[in-house]
Amino acid sequence: MIGRLRRMRLDWDRRARENARHFVVTHREQWSDEEFFRSGEVAMEEDILNDLGNVCQSKDPKSMRVIEIGCGAGRMTRAMARFFGEVHAVDISPEMVRLARRAVAGMGNAFIYRNNGRDLGVLRGSAWNRLLRAAPPRFDFAFSSMVFQHIPSRAIVESYVRDVARLLRPGALFKFQVQGNPRAGAEGENSWVGASFTEKDAREMAARCGFDLKYQAGAGDQYYWLWFFNRNQLG
Ligand SMILES: C[S@@+](CC[C@H](N)C(=O)[O-])C[C@H]1O[C@@H](n2cnc3c(N)ncnc32)[C@H](O)[C@@H]1O
Repeated sequence: MIGRLRRMRLDWDRRARENARHFVVTHREQWSDEEFFRSGEVAMEEDILNDLGNVCQSKDPKSMRVIEIGCGAGRMTRAMARFFGEVHAVDISPEMVRLARRAVAGMGNAFIYRNNGRDLGVLRGSAWNRLLRAAPPRFDFAFSSMVFQHIPSRAIVESYVRDVARLLRPGALFKFQVQGNPRAGAEGENSWVGASFTEKDAREMAARCGFDLKYQAGAGDQYYWLWFFNRNQLG
């Protein structure tokens, strides 16, 4: 796993230095600031604002603390930080993290972390907190789009899902997208084409990690969306 994580970090860092915005949203070679952040707002409308019943569950969004996995250059992070109380976003690539921090500069409620590419340890607090066994922070919603479709290992995706279950409050939603195209295969070395999930894979992963899979869309397609609701009591 370590070799794969290293390759993912190096590949994404190279893509970020070459043309970060293009590798984040590939249908254009060049993006102006305005177009790029507008595309983040559109994605936010489609995937979050159109689904507020599941996302907020009657909570005031300004009181919500949310997680984003694989924030890239901060395209959606910025839109999410305008809407939610706090956004905590992780990415494996130091260069993407630098760009995302620039995208949310001046927004006091957006926090960007470079993580290890397989879990959310960075959100659980400092080593000192862990030593004192301080309670980890609880989150109200978690989201990931166009990230797991690139992770060539089901075990790594599952490691994230398991960690989200530990951090989300009971009943809260983890909405995320995985690779659903069966031609992508189960495991690989390529950091562009992620391991694919069938409906059965998704259902079994939800059960193993303490979630209920309530809805899904796009099975068999590259954009396979899953709605996992946390049934864990405490992590
Ligand atoms: C296609 S971009 C999408 C960025 C963002 N989600 C968006 O929609 O604007 C994929 C991002 O996932 C990150 N990524 C890839 N593998 C990752 C991993 N194992 N853990 C965390 N981030 C990862 C990459 O560094 C990159 O920033």
